[in-house]
Formats: sequence, structure tokens, C-alpha cells
Amino acid sequence: MAALMDRAYVDMRPWSARDIAETLASKHCQALCHPHGFLIAQMVAGDGEILALATDTKAQRQGVASSLMSELIGIATKHNIHRLLLEVASQNQPARDFYTSRGFAQVGLRRGYYTLRDGTKDDAVLLSLAIAQGQGNLAPTSQGSDTKSG
Ligand SMILES: CC(C)(COP(=O)(O)OP(=O)(O)OC[C@H]1O[C@@H](n2cnc3c(N)ncnc32)[C@H](O)[C@@H]1OP(=O)(O)O)[C@@H](O)C(=O)NCCC(=O)NCCS
Repeated sequence: MAALMDRAYVDMRPWSARDIAETLASKHCQALCHPHGFLIAQMVAGDGEILALATDTKAQRQGVASSLMSELIGIATKHNIHRLLLEVASQNQPARDFYTSRGFAQVGLRRGYYTLRDGTKDDAVLLSLAIAQGQGNLAPTSQGSDTKSG
């Protein structure tokens, strides 16, 4: 997972294998895996937080992340999670386009939150997606979050 993340996170700093192992050890963690990608989330107190999402470079734009997100939404619905939250670097346009395509909406901004691989700073855009329980009906939420992700 760390090697895939290193390839996919072109500008963002990837997690180390140790970071990933420690996150996966949490009882709140949900790791969804695909042969060419993965999604790591945590679900606590009604909120689901996407911590990491990556599709290997050669497999992008083939629906891998969409499939992982659909799986996460299914799990979240079963666990009575009413919204998904995440942070994405403002300059990470592919990821922002992906989340927009999945119905996420911006609910906040953290200035200078990220340090990129080249040492420059970038803002974190907070995104949210409401999950209508039992209906599979998705719509953006209007509330912010103080959670962190990548
Ligand atoms: C963001 C990311 C996970 C998307 O994964 P993916 O498997 O390529 O996404 P999908 O194939 O499911 O894309 C679904 C839709 O999202 C949008 N999208 C995805 N990548 C896009 C891109 N590079 N440019 C524009 N839109 C994009 C499109 O609407 C796409 O539908 P389409 O291909 O029919 O036009 C992938 O680009 C990635 O791993 N990026 C590096 C890691 C990263 O930034 N992770 C997110 C951290 S918050």
C-alpha cells in the first residue's frame, strides 16, 4: 500500500508503511482494497472520515476509486454513518474533480495545512457528503469538520 501510495501521491507526501500499519490497527478503521487501489477510512460517532484514497497511476480513470467509494458508502449506510468527510489539497485537481463527481461539496478551508513533497504549503479543502440512511440517496452537507485526512 505504501509503494502504491508513493506512486499515486505525485505532489502530496505519501504515508510510510508504518503510518499505514498504525492506522489499520485502529478498531475504527475500514480499509477497502482493490488490486490497483485502496481506500482507508475511519468511522466514529456517526461520521465517516476518508483518510487516504489512491489508485495506481496506470489504473486511473478506470473506475477504481468510484468502486471503492461505492463500497464505502454501502458500509457507512449499514453502520448508520450519516456523512463522509475528508480533506484534500487545494492544488490536487484530479482528486477534487473525483470527489465532486461523487457528490462531495466543500464545507471549509484550512489555509497552509499541507506541506507538499517539494516543501511548499497548500490549503486543505474540507469536503462532505451526506448519506441518506436506507435510501442510497446522496447529497452534499452544509456543516464543517475539524477532522484531518489526505
Ligand atoms: C483521485 C483518484 C483516487 C481518482 O481515482 P480513479 O480510480 O482514477 O477515479 P475514477 O476512475 O473512479 O474516476 C471517477 C471520476 O472522477 C473524475 N476524475 C477522476 N480522476 C480525474 C482526473 N485526473 N481529472 C479529472 N477528473 C477526474 C472523473 O469525473 C471520473 O469519471 P470519468 O473518468 O468517467 O470522467 C486518483 O487520481 C489518485 O489516486 N490520485 C492520487 C492520490 C490522491 O490524490 N488521493 C486523494 C487524496 S484526498
